[in-house]
Amino acid sequence: MESSSSPKHTIKVAAISGSLRKASFHNGLIRSAIEITNQSIDQMSIEHIDISSLPMLNTDLETDDKFPPEVESFRQKILQADCFLFASPEFNYTVTASLKNAIDWGSRIPNVWADKAAAVISAGGSFGGGLSQYSLRQCGVYLDLHFINKPEFFLNAFEYPPKFDDDGNLIDEEAKERLKAVLLALKAFTLRLQGGS
Ligand SMILES: Cc1cc2nc3c(=O)[nH]c(=O)nc-3n(C[C@H](O)[C@H](O)[C@H](O)COP(=O)(O)O)c2cc1C
Repeated sequence: MESSSSPKHTIKVAAISGSLRKASFHNGLIRSAIEITNQSIDQMSIEHIDISSLPMLNTDLETDDKFPPEVESFRQKILQADCFLFASPEFNYTVTASLKNAIDWGSRIPNVWADKAAAVISAGGSFGGGLSQYSLRQCGVYLDLHFINKPEFFLNAFEYPPKFDDDGNLIDEEAKERLKAVLLALKAFTLRLQGGS
């Protein structure tokens, strides 16, 4: 277990993957983050929030000031989280449609993302999905999300040796260490934002 000062409560991290693929590397990154947290980070827990059932955003679906049930449930989970871990694949130099859709539903009034800490991680081609991270950070300005700047986590998923197995599980030990450093930074920044509580 790490030796940093302990928070008074368990920090709840909502983890969101921008991939709908079964053997997704990004779902694998979140599974690995959960395992690392359970094994070696005190007073923090990560829940993977599934966004696959969210309808495509259409404000006509908001009736009598209510959201569709899947959207309401998603928004409640976001509201209850202390901070966010985005695993954000890069599609055509930006975030995936599914992740942007989830972000947009959360941004409907009242914006449920506001004033919380976040981290973004990605795996992909040569830049390891990095351009999606900068797109997401740009959205974060309007959403009033506070992303940690360092450490950054990009992973070239296609270079030898393999970083993931056939099921999308992260198998690279060095990447796991870097992922742990991101999680510790997210925890520390969340505590700072919450005034050390
Ligand atoms: C439509 C599409 C566009 C993509 N565009 C990019 C890209 O711009 N840059 C990149 O590095 N990889 C790109 N990729 C590759 C994906 O980022 C890569 O397959 C990644 O593993 C997808 O995440 P996942 O494994 O979690 O599903 C693209 C893949 C698809 C299907």
